[in-house]
Amino acid sequence: MSEVNTDAQVRPREIIEAVRRLEAGELVGLPTETVYGLAADAENVQAVARIYAAKGRPADHPVIVHIHRAADLGHWASEVPETARKLAAAFWPGPLTLILPRKPGVADACAGGQNTIGLRCPSHPVAQAVLAIFKGGQGGLAAPSANRFGRISPTTAAHVHAELGDDLLVLDGGACAVGIESTIVDCTAQPPRILRPGQLQAADIAQTLGVAEADLLRPAESAPRVAGVLPAHYAPRTPLQWCSREQINARWEIGTSAGRRIGVLAFPPQPLAPHPSWVTLPADPAAYAQQLYAVLRRLDAAGLEEICVEVLPPSPAWLALRDRLTRAVHGSGR
Ligand code: TXA
Ligand code: MG
Repeated sequence: MSEVNTDAQVRPREIIEAVRRLEAGELVGLPTETVYGLAADAENVQAVARIYAAKGRPADHPVIVHIHRAADLGHWASEVPETARKLAAAFWPGPLTLILPRKPGVADACAGGQNTIGLRCPSHPVAQAVLAIFKGGQGGLAAPSANRFGRISPTTAAHVHAELGDDLLVLDGGACAVGIESTIVDCTAQPPRILRPGQLQAADIAQTLGVAEADLLRPAESAPRVAGVLPAHYAPRTPLQWCSREQINARWEIGTSAGRRIGVLAFPPQPLAPHPSWVTLPADPAAYAQQLYAVLRRLDAAGLEEICVEVLPPSPAWLALRDRLTRAVHGSGR
């Protein structure tokens, strides 16, 4: 069964209505190429407060501001380091968030008390269309992932409704192409540092900046301060655990014969006749990421006692997925 909905269509009239609501301080569910965001006018304090309330998000967690063009960086940042210019030129629009020093007084409500700002220019055509019209293309949209705090990010419009209710206007841009959240690079550090891995990898960033990959991935000196790097995050309610292929086979055999309802998330091949609780995902990190959250949601809704996820390869291409699933394992079962 494919998790991808390819026939989603957003009509111009819906884009106009979304922009009208955003300009009036309301919230809108917005598709991006990574995950769906819960968007509000970044410069409207009450509108941003609505995001925090809807998500149940603690006030000290900053939100990313989405902008139409890299040329607008200077509106939000007090200083745009050369590293940020290079990364924006190379990877925007796309799944990359840049942390920059924030211009004093700008988008205070999005900052969670930090003197920095996270900026991203998304490539999804619907997000681009909204940003092109919103405040004449000059505005910023605060948009964290459109899930309740700590839960799995939504990658379809239906997921957003399931998280936040049916009353929210959600633009249906289909299933997100990337499927996991953007790579976050802190450009206030020298050299820059990756705060959250994503589809865009350290090797690509290292090459663009002419710095060592290991430096980009160095650990933080201080305690984590962003939600995406809390140990428990992206979590299903069903207990989730890492298992080798051998452990999965053994657990499945023993568990199912004892009447236990077990879910499996593994690489092919599938050793038995198709079973709805045994999901295989491709051994390609981009394809795996594209489907991961939809599959986790489906397994989480299936009333299982536990979900076993097959350990991922140790290579850099799988880093972001190891990161997300490790946090999901940690936060699961609550
Ligand atoms: O792909 C994405 O980035 C998605 C889509 C909707 O754009 N957004 C997203 O937002 O994942 P959110 O809020 O769920 O995660 C953003 C992460 C959080 O961990 C937040 O704490 C961090 O970015 N962040 C935002 N502004 C920051 C700042 N000024 N300094 C450090 N971290 C920041
Ligand atoms: Mg999030």
